Amino acid sequence: MNSDSTVSTANNEIFPGEVFVNTGDFDTGIRRLLPKYDEMLDVLVACIANTNQRILELGCGTGELSLKVLQRYESAEIVAVDYSPRMLDFARAKIESAGYAARWTGIELDFGEWANNPSFSGLGDKFNAGISSLAIHHLEDEMKLKLFERIRESLTAGGCFWNADPVVAESAAMKDIYGAAREDWALSQGETLAEIRAKVGTSVSYGYSNPDRLATLAAQLEMLANAGFETVAVPWKYYGMAVFGGFVN
Ligand SMILES: C[S@@+](CC[C@H](N)C(=O)[O-])C[C@H]1O[C@@H](n2cnc3c(N)ncnc32)[C@H](O)[C@@H]1O
Repeated sequence: MNSDSTVSTANNEIFPGEVFVNTGDFDTGIRRLLPKYDEMLDVLVACIANTNQRILELGCGTGELSLKVLQRYESAEIVAVDYSPRMLDFARAKIESAGYAARWTGIELDFGEWANNPSFSGLGDKFNAGISSLAIHHLEDEMKLKLFERIRESLTAGGCFWNADPVVAESAAMKDIYGAAREDWALSQGETLAEIRAKVGTSVSYGYSNPDRLATLAAQLEMLANAGFETVAVPWKYYGMAVFGGFVN
């Protein structure tokens, strides 16, 4: 892995979405922090069963979702975007050592920039699927909508987009229930939430992303419909996390 991946950043400040001070802590830490992280990504991967030839992934991080897609679909090719050099380096090394380098292209880019700038065509289009996990919730709502529109424009007929992200709890009581579930989950994985959070960095706004800007699931389904997705669906929800998206005709 890239040598920077184990080095702490100044004041433990991190880009939104890097989560951990040390990139090398991400793969284990995220599985302890988030209940059913693997199940969530597996559902998302299953949703592209018939649309996986050419895939755009936004916010690939350390490459865990990419890896699952490449393992499951032999002909899938991924263009993976992330604006954190150390996360992208970590993903690239992992994908290469798994033998999938020929089917994966990592691009260092702010996906907000791509959404906000219609003349920017660096990623190409005609994707059969757009996918993202744990990244888009860092955008302001106005930018989420712009991003959904840009993704929709980049898809071929019959293509789809799926996002796995935290969503705003339906009420204060539900927020407490979701918080307790995460506490229980962390303990079941052998650490307290406090112990895991001690390895989490201080997220500061960078580019188009910010510390968490969660939206409700309902608001995001409406955004997808407004962006032109005809079939909008929620194939998975577990406490405060959801997989949602849709298809275009
Ligand atoms: C929590 S990680 C998730 C990684 C991976 N998708 C997963 O589920 O394990 C979120 C990633 O999104 C990236 N990210 C956040 N905002 C971004 C933006 N505006 N443009 C590009 N990448 C962004 C971060 O750098 C980080 O690597």
